[in-house]
Amino acid sequence: MKLEFEVNGERRELEVDPLRRLLDVLRDDLGLTGTKEGCGEGECGACTVLVDGVAVNSCLVPACQTAGARVETIESRDFESVGQAFLDEGGAQCGICTPGMIVMTRAWLEECARNGAKPDESGARGALAGNLCRCTGYGAILRSALCARVAAKSAARPAEASKGSQSLRSVLEALKSADESTRVIAGGTDLMVELRTGRTRASRVIDIRGLAELRGVRAESDGLRIGALECCADLRRSTVVRERFDVLARACAEVGAEQIQARATLGGNLGTASPAADLTPVLLALDARVRLVSLDGARELALDEFLIGYRRTARRPDELIESIWLPWPAPGTRCAFRKVGTRRAQSISKLVVALSVRLESNVVREVRASAGAVAPRTIRLRALERELNQREPSRELCRRAARAAALEDATPIDDVRSSASYRRHALARTLETLLLELTGIEACPS
Ligand SMILES: Cc1cc2nc3c(=O)[nH]c(=O)nc-3n(C[C@H](O)[C@H](O)[C@H](O)COP(=O)(O)OP(=O)(O)OC[C@H]3O[C@@H](n4cnc5c(N)ncnc54)[C@H](O)[C@@H]3O)c2cc1C
Ligand code: FES
Ligand code: FES
Repeated sequence: MKLEFEVNGERRELEVDPLRRLLDVLRDDLGLTGTKEGCGEGECGACTVLVDGVAVNSCLVPACQTAGARVETIESRDFESVGQAFLDEGGAQCGICTPGMIVMTRAWLEECARNGAKPDESGARGALAGNLCRCTGYGAILRSALCARVAAKSAARPAEASKGSQSLRSVLEALKSADESTRVIAGGTDLMVELRTGRTRASRVIDIRGLAELRGVRAESDGLRIGALECCADLRRSTVVRERFDVLARACAEVGAEQIQARATLGGNLGTASPAADLTPVLLALDARVRLVSLDGARELALDEFLIGYRRTARRPDELIESIWLPWPAPGTRCAFRKVGTRRAQSISKLVVALSVRLESNVVREVRASAGAVAPRTIRLRALERELNQREPSRELCRRAARAAALEDATPIDDVRSSASYRRHALARTLETLLLELTGIEACPS
């Protein structure tokens, strides 16, 4: 394809493979070698660049999704003041990680400026959570981020150029002849890694990121409809999501680091059907339905029917996940989400659980519980639900229900991330803690 975009204020035009990584386009085709490659899988932040003002990992962005976009790399003069702060405070350390940290810092400071927020250490830690430093220079890096100043002129976030540039019909027509090995690409945070490592082979990849029909968060009379292309960063900030489905907003804030959240979509999280996906358990606990569209029309499935096995869904190859629908929670409903991993950002869950409990006159009237990474697919914890439903919660009941889930619902395995016995034990403990909090037997930690 012919790629036309703006890089550091200059118009560029070149022939590229649509799936070529933005990182390779910048380094190899345009000679902008300031952007570094560390892991190549979205985990280290060394390749961070700004696309339309948003920090992303360029190793996960396919070239086709940057058509018409404004890309800024460390070579841009707009990074000079932040770079100087890194020099002054000793935050500039190795040449691999530092450029990505400077880029991320500017993105964070601009975000603070837009929101009128005062940059503080916890904000800097959160923003830089996806940028690894193996020489343990974090103290100086955080100091640098807090001393840096950004120019006010760059504090307006432009709309992403690629949004809304495709027609749904043309994508569905392209999908009509799709087979099992055809893939659509949304944010690419899963698929780009899968393709690169050879874990997934695709005969054809169809870009859907420009579909306006798959975007938006709409309040309907009976619930909330969320477009499949809404990304974690947008959902985490959405007022209606925070007010009515705070548990989803909180879960979105724990999907990878900022650079991942800026691109990881809700539809993509379901599309992976990964048993360790973090948003799927939350959506199951919230009783979500998935709307699928094809040239033959639309159909809606309960999420539990949509997930059919290890990385398998009920979606036909010619269908797209269009949106996810969540019923408004009944009054008195309380929800919780907990992820157990090795580090706060970027870790794939060893275990993830979500709960929705409605109490009436101190009796559990409705409960939905789900867990990820304890079975080949994200599961409902039916044994826990059976134990709790229509009963008055007590310490003993919460313990019994949590144990029932660990023994009857979960079928965990030993793998590189954890052992089956640890997962079963951690599941029971985590569920018990959350149930005690949700039923008011123990206070929630603030
Ligand atoms: C460093 C790193 C950290 C991560 N951390 C987490 C984490 O903490 N928690 C977590 O849950 N995930 C994590 N992930 C995985 C990934 O970011 C999420 O699953 C994300 O939500 C995927 O969305 P996407 O838009 O990037 O999907 P893509 O990669 O574009 O697609 C993923 C799959 O879904 C399909 N698909 C996407 N959209 C649709 C659609 N609308 N209709 C039909 N099929 C579709 C694609 O064909 C593909 O098979 C991480 C990934 C990386 C690289
Ligand atoms: S090279 Fe590590 S995140 Fe891209
Ligand atoms: S800055 Fe690269 S290892 Fe510390």
